[in-house]
Amino acid sequence: MKTTTQIDGEMLEKLIETARNARNWAYAPYSHYAVGAALLTASGKIYDGVNIENAAFPAGICAERVAMFKAVSEGERDFTVLVVMTDNGGSPCGSCRQVMAEFGLSTRVLIVDTNGKTHIDTTVEGLLPWAFRPEDLL
Ligand code: THU
Repeated sequence: MKTTTQIDGEMLEKLIETARNARNWAYAPYSHYAVGAALLTASGKIYDGVNIENAAFPAGICAERVAMFKAVSEGERDFTVLVVMTDNGGSPCGSCRQVMAEFGLSTRVLIVDTNGKTHIDTTVEGLLPWAFRPEDLL
């Protein structure tokens, strides 16, 4: 899958380190699967996110959505790159893909592991082809 967003290596490193640092704050006492995310907006800001679990399991939320919701709640809707870091390079869940698609299909998404290996380098469209989108409601 081709990527649409080129960013320089320095910015990519910054995003990866942001996701790595954020991951330390993951609240995952049930799954023990810590996830860190870093979201770069078109305005140049970086929002991080972690998964936050709950004793009532469905009330928890993924790292990707935390990062996106933090950004949107501060007026950002134009996302450039989303980096997701886990121990094993696990792929984003369907709910997170749907939220990504709400804000644009061309956002680049990188799935990396804690060793620095990139498992997936794609776009939101690559993760969720044929997405249901805002224009489908018009
Ligand atoms: N999780 C994420 O935060 N992002 C993903 O991409 C996959 C799953 C979280 C949800 C839950 O807290 C834990 O990882 C196990 O599913």
